Amino acid sequence: MIGGDMRYLTFALGKGRLVKDTMELLNKCGIECEEVLDKKTRKLIFTNEELGLKFFLAKGPDVPTYVEYGAADIGIVGADTILEENRRVYEVLDLGFGKCRMCVCGPHDAKSLLEHREMIRVASKYPNIAKDYFFNKKHQTVDIIKLNGSVELGPIVNLSDVIVDIVETGSTLRENGLEVLEEICPLSARVIVNQVSMQMETERIRKLINAMKENL
Ligand code: PRP
Repeated sequence: MIGGDMRYLTFALGKGRLVKDTMELLNKCGIECEEVLDKKTRKLIFTNEELGLKFFLAKGPDVPTYVEYGAADIGIVGADTILEENRRVYEVLDLGFGKCRMCVCGPHDAKSLLEHREMIRVASKYPNIAKDYFFNKKHQTVDIIKLNGSVELGPIVNLSDVIVDIVETGSTLRENGLEVLEEICPLSARVIVNQVSMQMETERIRKLINAMKENL
């Protein structure tokens, strides 16, 4: 029970693919918060009075923002989003689920454009990751086009030569005649923590992180 001068610790959870595994993990830790998944309600934030915790769901890319500004103490979100947003937060734990890869993908023919460092067009939901990869790692000048989803369309409708996107099973690529051309990095769900919260609430946050670690 929250009491004395104990304050609530707030979790920001990324909506989408990671939610199910995140909930399962928190449940195993004895942290009840399924209410956030209740589709019947329009309520955005839920409180577990017993543990002094609050939870809300947010769009993935907003999770690091909430955590950087301290609107949430702890966030659970994909490594892709953490890399793309590049916020000042501590990344404290790899949860190991939501495993996938950030890749450069395209039609088979596009491989030679990469090999010859051509000035190609790259469509992505992750312009910062794409920029870092092509400019800093590959020293290849490219034109980056930001899209907001269904990025595989890029090469199909000739918007771009290749895409930078997440590959999980590879079935989206296969079904659209595309393939992985280069691998950028492995991805998975991560726990991030606000830098001030980490100093002020070290013990409570450490305990929560340990509980998550033990239940992975
Ligand atoms: C992601 C990603 C790929 C797909 C990869 O998209 O952008 O399109 O999943 O998964 P697969 O390798 O298992 O096929 P998501 O479904 O999250 O939606 P989006 O296309 O709107 O970004």
